[in-house]
Amino acid sequence: MKRIAVLTSGGDAPGMNAALRAVVRTSVFYGYECFVVYHGYQGLIDDEIKSANARSVNNIINKGGTILKSARSLEFRTPEGRQKAYANIKKREIDALVVIGGDGSFTGALIFQNEFNFPVIGIPGTIDNDISGTQYTLGYDTALNTVVEVIDKIRDTASSHNRLFFVEVMGRDAGHIALNTGIGAGAEEILIPEEDRGLGKLLESLKHSEKSGKSSSIVVVAEGDKTGKNVFELAAYVEQNLPYYEVRVSVLGHMQRGGSPSCFDRVLASRMGVHAVESLREGKSKAMVGILNDKMELTPLEEAIKGKSKINSNLLRVTDILSI
Ligand code: F6P
Repeated sequence: MKRIAVLTSGGDAPGMNAALRAVVRTSVFYGYECFVVYHGYQGLIDDEIKSANARSVNNIINKGGTILKSARSLEFRTPEGRQKAYANIKKREIDALVVIGGDGSFTGALIFQNEFNFPVIGIPGTIDNDISGTQYTLGYDTALNTVVEVIDKIRDTASSHNRLFFVEVMGRDAGHIALNTGIGAGAEEILIPEEDRGLGKLLESLKHSEKSGKSSSIVVVAEGDKTGKNVFELAAYVEQNLPYYEVRVSVLGHMQRGGSPSCFDRVLASRMGVHAVESLREGKSKAMVGILNDKMELTPLEEAIKGKSKINSNLLRVTDILSI
C-alpha cells in the first residue's frame, strides 16, 4: 500500500475534521501519500481528488462540519457512477479509501469494496450514535452538550411563564440524543422511538408533575418518536387535555450538527483516524473502526450497517425515578 484517500459523506458531524486530520497525518507518519476527496462519493466520480500533506490539515481539529464538504450522491448508487469513481482512484494508483460517515455511507463503501475488491475502512461520523460496533460515534458527545445547553435556556423561559415546552431533537430513528439530553437537562418527560409509552401515560405523568407543584415542564421528543403524529400535534393534544399549561414547541433542528467538537470527540476522532490507517497497514479492510470498552475495535461493515444500536434501559429507569 502506498496511497490512501479519505472522504466525508452523509450528514456532517463535529469531529469529522479531527478524524480527517488524524487520517492524513497518520498516513504521512507511515510514509504513505494521502489524497483528500471533496463532496463525498460524488467527488470521487467528479475527480475532485487532491493530494494532501501534514500541513494541509492545520488548525482544523477544533472546527465543526467538514472542510471536504459532504454530499449525498445518487450517481454513486449506479454501477456506472461507481465505475467512474474507481477509474479516478486507479488513475492515481490509490490503494485504499477511508470513509468518514454514517451507515448510509458505509453501505456505499461495502458495495464499492465488493465490486472492485478495493480496501475500505469506515469511521463512524454522525451525531445520532445509531451505529452498532461502537459505543460512540463522532459528533454525538458534542451534540449532547449543545442540546443540553439549549434546553437549559428554554427552561429559563418555561419557568418564567409557567409553560410546558416540547423540545424536538435529532437522532433520525434513534433516541440516544433525546434520552441522554433529557436526563442531563432534567426534563420531566422523554419520548423516544424505542419505547412507546402512549399518550395516556404522558398525560398522567404531566398531571402528576403539576400536582406535585411543578409549574413548568420540559418534554424532550426524539424526532423519530411515534407517540404523537408530530411534535406540534402532540403539543396541541396535551394543551387540550391539560388546560392549566400554556404549551410551546421548540424544534432544535440543524444547529445540533454544528459547533466546535468537544474534547471527547476530538480525542475519539484522533484515535479512530490513527486506527483506520494502521488497520489498512495491517491488511485489514471492509470494516468500521469503533470504540468498545475504551478500546479501538474493528466491526465488519455488514454488521455495522445491519446492527441496531441499543438504548440503555437503565437510563430509562433513571429518568422514571428522577422525574418524580
Ligand atoms: O444523521 C444525522 C441527522 O442530523 C439526523 O439526526 C437527521 O434526522 C438527519 O441527519 C437530517 O438530514 P438532512 O441534513 O439531510 O436534513
